[in-house]
Amino acid sequence: MSGKISPSIMCADFRHLEDDIRILEQVGVEYLHFDIMDGSFVPNFTLGPDLMKSIREITSIPFDIHLMIQHPENHITLFDIRPGDLVSVHQESTVHLQRVLQKIKDMGGKAAVALNPATPIYNAEEVLDDIAAVLIMTVNPGFAGQKLVPAALKKIAHMKRYLHEYGYDHIEIEVDGNVSYENAIKMREAGADIFVAGTSSLFIKGKDILESALQLRNCI
Ligand code: DX5
Ligand code: ZN
Repeated sequence: MSGKISPSIMCADFRHLEDDIRILEQVGVEYLHFDIMDGSFVPNFTLGPDLMKSIREITSIPFDIHLMIQHPENHITLFDIRPGDLVSVHQESTVHLQRVLQKIKDMGGKAAVALNPATPIYNAEEVLDDIAAVLIMTVNPGFAGQKLVPAALKKIAHMKRYLHEYGYDHIEIEVDGNVSYENAIKMREAGADIFVAGTSSLFIKGKDILESALQLRNCI
């Protein structure tokens, strides 16, 4: 089974977003990745529910919603979660992790826990029964264009072994941050299943997006 592509919309050129989404539909990307930031959990602001609503009206590609916000349990109903969507909340962002993962499932979505580079894989241990995926941040969250945290590659392999050991092979591993062609190959070898494609491999100035997407597809 080959890897799945989740284009990071915050990296897209909004001046021709619909055209790019049509191309991504042709490529058959499995998700569209929406980075939601609150300026508190991470020092940046990006996309919001209104943009997601507009994009929902023009495509049926499932959404991959990455919540980089404090206390996601207080805001989760703002996001029109649909069956097939994947919704990640950061373990570091709430003391009510299991509750918010359950809420995502009650709303019809697939739940995922996101882990910052310094957060141990074991912090997801008590919610393995609640999640469809774990999002391993391969950069420190908040900005596109950053460089891979080298230890993240080992962490992907460690998570893969850990999930296998405990009988959770069905849980997918998503990677997010500096997913370049070169890094994607290493991430795939380490066990990644879903690849967030941003400025490192897909939305590259002056490069045709169809060519970039197909090149990434070949790497994973
Ligand atoms: C960073 C975001 C990533 C980012 C990926 O916090 O979560 O999705 O957009 O973009 P690149 O490929 O530039 O790292
Ligand atoms: Zn993201």
